[in-house]
This record gives sequence, C-alpha cells and structure tokens, in this order.
Amino acid sequence: MKPDEVKKIAVIGCGLMGSGITEVAAKSGMDVVFVEVSDEKVKKQGGRIAGSIGKAVEKGKLSQEDGDAAVSRINGTTEYEAISDADLVIEAVTEDLQTKLEVFRRLDELTRDDVVLASNTSSLPIGEMAAATNRPDKVLGMHFFNPVPIMKLLELVRGLQTSDETLEFARGMGDRLGKTVVVSKDRAGFIVNALLSCYMNMAVRMVEEGFATKEDIDTAVTLGLGHPMGPLTLLDLVGIDTAYAISDVLYEQFKDPIYSAPNLMKQMVQAGHFGRKAGKGFYDYGEK
Ligand code: 3HC
Repeated sequence: MKPDEVKKIAVIGCGLMGSGITEVAAKSGMDVVFVEVSDEKVKKQGGRIAGSIGKAVEKGKLSQEDGDAAVSRINGTTEYEAISDADLVIEAVTEDLQTKLEVFRRLDELTRDDVVLASNTSSLPIGEMAAATNRPDKVLGMHFFNPVPIMKLLELVRGLQTSDETLEFARGMGDRLGKTVVVSKDRAGFIVNALLSCYMNMAVRMVEEGFATKEDIDTAVTLGLGHPMGPLTLLDLVGIDTAYAISDVLYEQFKDPIYSAPNLMKQMVQAGHFGRKAGKGFYDYGEK
C-alpha cells in the first residue's frame, strides 16, 4: 500500500502520545479509530482531542470547518475488532515491553497481512515486538514527540527485519502527517531519548543534591541555552513515569550510571506525581 492510499489509521492506547497521534492523523484527512481500555477513558480522551483541535482553531491554525471535519473522523472504542479494516496501526500503550508484546500479538491476528504495525515506543526494542508477529518485515518504530500536534519530528526506528518498503511507507506517512523524519537503528533511546534521558536525570540530581532550585535550573536552561522550556518543566510535560521507564530501559541496556534514574524520580512515580497529566510533578498544575 502507498501512503496516499491510507484511509484509516488505528491508534492503540490514547494517552498523552496516542491522543496527539490521533489528532494529527485526523487533521491530515484520515479516519482514525483509537482503542482504550475503558468507556470512561474513551470519553475522556475523545474530549481531550476535541479540546486540542478546538485550541488549534482558536489559534487560527485551521478553520472551524476543517476542525469539525477532523473531529468527525475520530472514533474511540474499547473493541479491538474495530481495527480490522485499518491500513496502518500505531501502538502507543504504556512503556512496558510485556504489555506491548501482548498488543502486537493481537494486532497481528486482527489486521490484514499487508498492514504495517508501528510502535510509538520511546526506548523499547522494535525487534522484540516484530518477533511477536508473523510479519516482522512490516514492524517499525514511529516515535512522535510531545506535544504531538506541535512537534515537527518523527523518529523512524528500523528493526533488523524491517524491510526497505516498510521504511519508505513510514517515511511517506511522516510526510502526510506533516512531520520531518529522521531514521535511527533499533538501539535503546534511539536518537533523542538517548540524549535527553541523561540530561533530564542530571537535572533531577541537581535538585536532589540542593545544587540549585528547580526554578533556577529551568531558568538557566531556558535563557542560557535558548530551550523553549527547562528540564524539570519538560519532565512534567513528558511524564515522570514515562521518563523513569525510559531511564530503566537505557540503564538495563547500557549499564552506564548516567542512565540510572535518580531516587527522587522513583519516589515521585511511587507518589503518583507524574507531572502535568497528574496535576503534580516538579510543579503544581491544580487538580486533574
Ligand atoms: N494543533 C496545532 N497547533 C497548535 C495546537 C494544536 N492542537 N495547539 C497549539 N498549537 C500551536 C500554537 O498556535 C502555537 O503556534 P505559534 O507558535 O505559531 O503561535 C504553538 O503551537 C505553541 O503553542 P502554545 O502557545 O500553546 O505553547 P508555547 O508557545 O508555550 O509552547 C511547547 C509550548 C510547544 C510545549 C514549547 O514549550 C516546547 O516546544 N517545549 C519543548 C517540548 C519538547 O521538548 N518536547 C519533546 C519532549 S521528548 C518526547 O516527547 C519524547 C518522548 O518519548 C519522551
């Protein structure tokens, strides 16, 4: 299948990343079905996507008509069977290998044999997910960045068995979704998170050691390095739980202490202080 023939995308897991991917695909003119684990989540995430599209309309990024059309192309469900006519599947469930392997087995059973199965994993091995299917040549990583509707980058991750055809298809899909594509081999963290994880961990260690306040660290990076936000604000945006999971995978693979998650991060995860999505992280965001 050619990228411009894709009519329907299925997104599995509609959290921070899945909802962004759903929004971008719908705005690009494709039908999207997202699968969540409960009716409550389907409703909540559907509302969140509509809200984000509304914000884009408000900010003059797209017309009211195009915004309404995008919303009407999105369907949320708890039924995996709804993906059976999808032309591409993007998995964006929790960053846990066993969960993802289980999802990939299901995707392999439920979709046409020619359908590419992509994972939005930020660090886990594409090769293992590919091996859980009967179409390892059609499995690859399509790693988006948060907030997905705004960030231009799409990292494609090529597993050992990913075919040239699959990579070219994903490149074309990246274009259709309005993203700029880079390609990485299947090595934990790929390009961005391999760099980002140690940087964020170092910032948390600075807070832990009382080296500087979180506000000063963020201000220093914003004004001194020209980043749009400092590392602790960014951690709150990415999710402390996600950043912690990424660190774990990187440390497991490389055994380099630079990747080991600081204790404070672990404690924040245990306390449910996941960042912006939980209403509390390094900073307070009010009740969620
Ligand atoms: N669709 C399209 N455009 C939208 C939109 C939507 N739903 N919502 C907002 N926008 C537009 C706005 O109109 C605005 O455009 P403009 O600059 O032309 O006016 C732009 O997006 C920025 O929106 P806001 O004004 O609401 O927000 P800010 O200017 O405060 O920027 C930010 C917020 C984009 C998050 C910026 O702070 C930033 O770039 N931060 C860094 C984010 C980052 O590093 N992300 C990567 C994290 S790592 C990751 O995701 C990998 C994972 O595996 C961990």
